[in-house]
Amino acid sequence: MQTRRAILPDAPRIYELISQYSDDGTLLPRTQQDIFENVRDFVVVEDKGRVVGCAALHFYGLSLAEVRSVAVDVEYHGRHAGSTLIKGLMAEAKYHKVQRVFLFTRVPEFFGRMGFTVVPHDLLPEKVHKDCIVCLRRHCCDEIAMVHGRVPLHELTRRSGNRNLVTIQG
Ligand SMILES: CC(C)(COP(=O)(O)OP(=O)(O)OC[C@H]1O[C@@H](n2cnc3c(N)ncnc32)[C@H](O)[C@@H]1OP(=O)(O)O)[C@@H](O)C(=O)NCCC(=O)NCCS
Repeated sequence: MQTRRAILPDAPRIYELISQYSDDGTLLPRTQQDIFENVRDFVVVEDKGRVVGCAALHFYGLSLAEVRSVAVDVEYHGRHAGSTLIKGLMAEAKYHKVQRVFLFTRVPEFFGRMGFTVVPHDLLPEKVHKDCIVCLRRHCCDEIAMVHGRVPLHELTRRSGNRNLVTIQG
């Protein structure tokens, strides 16, 4: 299995993969039009020429990006398609010189194996302001925020009420 950057003709298959997991709320739903417009965010993983998984890297600023829409065809679970995809996305992040990559997930064990660390949600105000604020589950969120790599000490910000929080800046 190997990864490559997605191209426009992959969009219908990417839509199909994401849709497998959006009906039950595992993934945020995305329209086919949205995928056409943002197909350059995506990396896909192929097995013998067939796209069996996809994942996207969405940029927030010079040094911050989010992993989104990670989906592996159910027939390929447990065959390292998912970890291959995340390695492909991290290579993209490195290519773009992004220092920090974050995600929100319900499968922290998987991403923990890929080098992500659990952090409090409010360390990611960019995400909270963009998506969480309009999310129906914002007061009962069961997603776990994770960041790849070390959080530099110089970003340590003392906040009133919580002296241990740090801010991840874009
Ligand atoms: C999560 C998902 C991407 C994993 O893909 P995958 O191809 O099955 O994962 P891999 O085979 O690459 O697994 C890599 C390692 O993580 C482990 N792992 C995979 N899924 C796991 C899970 N849900 N919980 C704990 N560990 C998991 C594997 O056992 C494997 O461990 P190993 O290296 O010791 O063998 C896939 O199950 C999926 O598409 N799920 C539905 C959509 C989803 O939840 N996306 C993430 C939303 S943020």
